[in-house]
Amino acid sequence: MLKNPFVTSGYDGPEYFCDREEETVKLIRQLTNGNNVVLMSLRRMGKTGLLHHAFQQEEIANEYHTFVVDIYSTKNLNELVAEMGKVILNADATLDQIFDYIKQSDRPCLIAIDEFQQIAHYPEKNVEAILRTYIQHCSNANFVFSGSERHLLAEMFSSPARPFYASTSTLSLGCIDSIKYEAFAKAHFEKAGKHLEAGVVAAVYDKFDGVTWYIQKVLNHLFAETDAGEWCTKEMIDVAVDEIVKDNGEIYADLLYQLTAKQKELLMAINIEGKAKTITGSKFIKAHHLAAASSVQTAIKSLMDRQLVTFHLGEYEIYDKFFGIWLSSKS
Ligand SMILES: Nc1ncnc2c1ncn2[C@@H]1O[C@H](COP(=O)(O)OP(=O)(O)O)[C@@H](O)[C@H]1O
Ligand SMILES: [Mg+2]
Repeated sequence: MLKNPFVTSGYDGPEYFCDREEETVKLIRQLTNGNNVVLMSLRRMGKTGLLHHAFQQEEIANEYHTFVVDIYSTKNLNELVAEMGKVILNADATLDQIFDYIKQSDRPCLIAIDEFQQIAHYPEKNVEAILRTYIQHCSNANFVFSGSERHLLAEMFSSPARPFYASTSTLSLGCIDSIKYEAFAKAHFEKAGKHLEAGVVAAVYDKFDGVTWYIQKVLNHLFAETDAGEWCTKEMIDVAVDEIVKDNGEIYADLLYQLTAKQKELLMAINIEGKAKTITGSKFIKAHHLAAASSVQTAIKSLMDRQLVTFHLGEYEIYDKFFGIWLSSKS
């Protein structure tokens, strides 16, 4: 049976990877010219995918050893070192051993530390300085530091007081071009003998602000729902989204159940606004019948800690857009 070409987790090779040609060239150019790179974007935009895609290109794969170390689940320096050891050496090791291994490697190395902002949450205060020192003395490796919490990364890399200051160039990953996405999707539908109505991709793209993972998830459903010889039409989009949201209904209900009444009210209010700016202002508080600004402040902190809400460019938003749609259906 033909594989569903719209991948929703991991990287499955260039055939299933849409565009990112310019970004791939830029990333490779920086790394092969001896620069370390900070790779930033919103969550689920495609950073990790781009890392794997770039590392798989011939000029990289044939010349370098490449490693992607995901430190999302690490909580302190020890766990970071353990994760690096596992990926780079296939074993637990000390930082000295890891960097000695890299230095003695028969090829230059490219090492991506994915979800790098996690180190800002470690209890140790000197992690940046320690890493910076090792990296500075390691001449045959270059590094990518990738992450989605812009403010944390920006502080680390562009504040003169911090160890990594001015040691990297920055690559910000935006949305994939909508026209290119449509061409990519259409080609995959046609390859399977299915037809994709013009405008379907644009409509999905708009609904989810061009964030890659949501587009992939909806296209994956639409592809599955379209039989060979049949057309995928715009009317099918809402049905597909409803189904995805319903599939997660129990998880969402559980999440909501864990919140206090005040947290729930604030979550709903932010969801109604879509993007919410001054949530402690009297206008927002009145419009959504919330309690005092101080209780909004307490509530937003725990919504952010639970990663239900994100803060980006001065605006609060529900993190999972499918969760937001589910919330809308409940109010
Ligand atoms: N260029 C792309 N073409 C197709 N799918 C992609 C592309 N980039 C990312 N994806 C898919 O989108 C999802 C999110 O991408 P990911 O790289 O994990 O985002 P990030 O690391 O920025 O959070 C993944 O499931 C991946 O399969
Ligand atoms: Mg990632």
